[in-house]
Order: sequence, then structure tokens, then C-alpha cells
Amino acid sequence: MATSDPSHGAATTGKPKPKPITPSDLRAEFSHHDPTIARINNGSFGCCPATIIAAQQRHQLLFLRQPDYYYFHTLKPSILQSRRLIQTLINADHVDEVSIVDNATTAAAIVLQHTTWSFFSSNFQPGDAALILHYAYGAVKKSVQAYISRAGGHVIEVHLPFPVKSRSEIVFEFQKALKLGKSNGRKIRLAVIDHITSMPCVIIPVKELVKMCRDEGVDRIFIDGAHAIGNVEIDARDIGADFYTSNLHKWLFCPPSAAFLYCKMSDESSDLHHPVVSHEYGNGLAMESAWIGTRDYSPQLVLPEVMEFVNRFEGGLKGIMKRNHEMVVEMAKMLVEAWGTELGAPPEMCASLAMVGMPSCLGIRCELDALKLRKHLRECFKVEVPIYYRAPVEGEVDPITGYARISHQVYNVVEDYYRLRDAVKKLVETGFTCDLLSK
Ligand SMILES: Cc1ncc(COP(=O)(O)O)c(C=O)c1O
Repeated sequence: MATSDPSHGAATTGKPKPKPITPSDLRAEFSHHDPTIARINNGSFGCCPATIIAAQQRHQLLFLRQPDYYYFHTLKPSILQSRRLIQTLINADHVDEVSIVDNATTAAAIVLQHTTWSFFSSNFQPGDAALILHYAYGAVKKSVQAYISRAGGHVIEVHLPFPVKSRSEIVFEFQKALKLGKSNGRKIRLAVIDHITSMPCVIIPVKELVKMCRDEGVDRIFIDGAHAIGNVEIDARDIGADFYTSNLHKWLFCPPSAAFLYCKMSDESSDLHHPVVSHEYGNGLAMESAWIGTRDYSPQLVLPEVMEFVNRFEGGLKGIMKRNHEMVVEMAKMLVEAWGTELGAPPEMCASLAMVGMPSCLGIRCELDALKLRKHLRECFKVEVPIYYRAPVEGEVDPITGYARISHQVYNVVEDYYRLRDAVKKLVETGFTCDLLSK
């Protein structure tokens, strides 16, 4: 995160320091959550506190009250204010480097469409490559297929180890893939690198990988940080990628859906366009993204209230991230001890999410088993947690094939994790295996 700390909301909004949040305020902020569910999957859809939902509704009503005035006088300055807050949060040089879009999927489409045009305009040649992590998010992989493969590009997938023991294992595999990719004279035009992979979930040492790409002459680097903002520090200038996206609705308390796309200022950046063309076409990506036709822009406008909300917590956003990380690691350790398993990654490679090995006797033998077990935990034990299937490596004895991806956000309590612990223990004690779910 930037050194000019945006978590000091008073400095950015000119308002007095917000009132510290109490345990009962916190419960009220999330009282709309289904109270019967132990929700330990903030990773998929994030969460939105009541204060922010109210702020969003205020924007919606302002628009409905006098749409023309809102359109001509309120919308653009409000989006600009949100962009400025993001600029500070991610330490971008200029506000024009920050656009707000719907989600990380849209941001990927913008970057990949831009790369497609380089193939069409013959700046890139058929067979030039895009490099992507094997664990890239499914929709982003499909986007690479849709935009790069169809334009004649070659796709290189970097295989990463899991479970992973250290950052250096990732750096090593990435370096190997880069060298191999270039070995037959191929030019690597684009690298798509996750900041925090989705499944399995691991923090990737993006700064090192970006430097490696630069040293090897990769033309463009896009960081998919969908899970990053509010989860790990982002310093766009320091990371040094050309493009960086993160969802605001996952870990930054915005309502669905909003994401930022950072595009480093360059000669090429004027050729970046939103895939939805409006009358703002040609006015720069930030302006194009700020009007993609009549719709609800309110999720993008609540950043000032989000900053006030996070500043009610000790240490602001940094404090939230620190405590979430500490708690998720503590809970992950508690679970592996109870289940006699192991973590999928060392604590320093977990943000507010952790991969927790599940007992092998549960018989998780494919992705469908993992999905069915997740459903079983939801329906029979009221726990919401995603499960990752990991194929065993030949010769492994009693391998861990299932990992629960647990998360910690401000609304979580230790009982949420105890419920997961006890549910799995009960399944083990009663001789459950995933085979029973197909019957
Ligand atoms: C790494 C990664 N990239 C992209 C996305 C897509 O996010 P969205 O569905 O908000 O576009 C996700 C969603 O979880 C993700 O984990």
C-alpha cells in the first residue's frame, strides 16, 4: 500500500475521524448475513456492510430523483473521487491510470482485446506467445483463449507446485517456463500473472516475476489481482506491471460489482478501450469506462464511505488486513492439527485466505467430489467453504487430495471454524467417503 496512507480517511475526505467500531456495531453491519451459515468463503463474492449498502442506496435514489441532473453534474465527479481514492490506495502516479470497471473479468477483456489488436495490426506475429499461470482463474483462461488463441497467438501455461513450500519454488518454475517459452525463438508478448491465485490460493511474488519478465523482454505484463485489494498491499509503481486489476467487491467492502483497472501511462495506453462502446469512445479508458450506457453506477461511487468504514477499525485497512491474516493462519493451524493434515502453503504465502488439507479418508477423488462435498457441508452442516481437488502425484502414499480454502474477514468468529472442524471430524468418525454422495 502507498506510504501516503489512504486509510487516514479524515485526510482524504476532510471529515473528522470516524467513530471506532464496537463489537455490536460490527454485528449490526453484517446482520443481513444468513445467521445460520458459517461463512468462511469471503474469497468468492466478498461482503458489503450495512453502512455501504445504505450509501449505495443513497446514490441510486439521487439518480432516480433527478436523473438528468445526476448525469450532468454528479456522476462524473463522483467516479473521479473514487478513482482518486484508488490511486492513493495503490500508489499510482496519475489518476488517469485508474479506471473503474465492473469486475476483473471485464478488466481482463480490456487488456486482452488490446493484445488482439496488436496481432491484427501485425505488431505481433502469429505464433507470438502469451504466458499464463496454470492456476489462472477459469474465466481469464477462457478470455486468453477467446482473444489470444483466436488471433493466432500461442499460449504458454506455467505449471506451479501445490502444495507449495516457498516463494522460490514459484520463482524457479516461472523462470523455467519463460526460458522454455523463448527457446525456439518465440516472442512472449504478454504475461498474465495472478497476485493471489484463486484455486489453489497462494500469494504470488509478483514483483520478482515482473522483473524477470522485463529482463526477458516480455512486452506487456498484466497482473490479475482480483483478490488483492484489502487483502495484501498493492504498490502499482513498485510492482511495475503495465496493467493491474483488482475487484473492489471482494475484500474492500464495495457492493457487487466494481473493480479497478490500472494501466501504466505509455504511448500505447491511448489505444486501450472498453469493450462496450459509448459516446465516450476515444476519450481515454477511464472516461470510456465511466459511461458504458445507462445502468447502475452506484457500486463504483461508495469508495469515500468505504474508506470511512475501514478507518473505524484499529489501524484502518492495514489493521484489518493484518488481523485477517493472523486469524486465518491461526484457524488454519487449528484445523490441520485437528484433522492431522497439512497447510497447502506456508503462512507468509497466505493473505486472508488459507488452503487447509482435508483428511484423505474422505475420498475426494475428482473435482466433482470436491463440489459435492462442499454442497454436503453447506446443506448438512451449514458451512460455506470452497474445496479444491488436487490430483495425487504417482507414488504418493496416502496423499491429501482435498483442501478447504478458508478465509477470514471482519465478520468472522472462531465458532465458524469450529463448525467446519467438527463437521469434518464427524464425517471421518462416521466413515463417510465422497462415494456415498453419488449414491
Ligand atoms: C484470480 C481471479 N481472477 C478473476 C476473477 C473474476 O472476478 P469477477 O467474477 O469479479 O470478474 C476471480 C474471481 O474470483 C479470481 O479469483
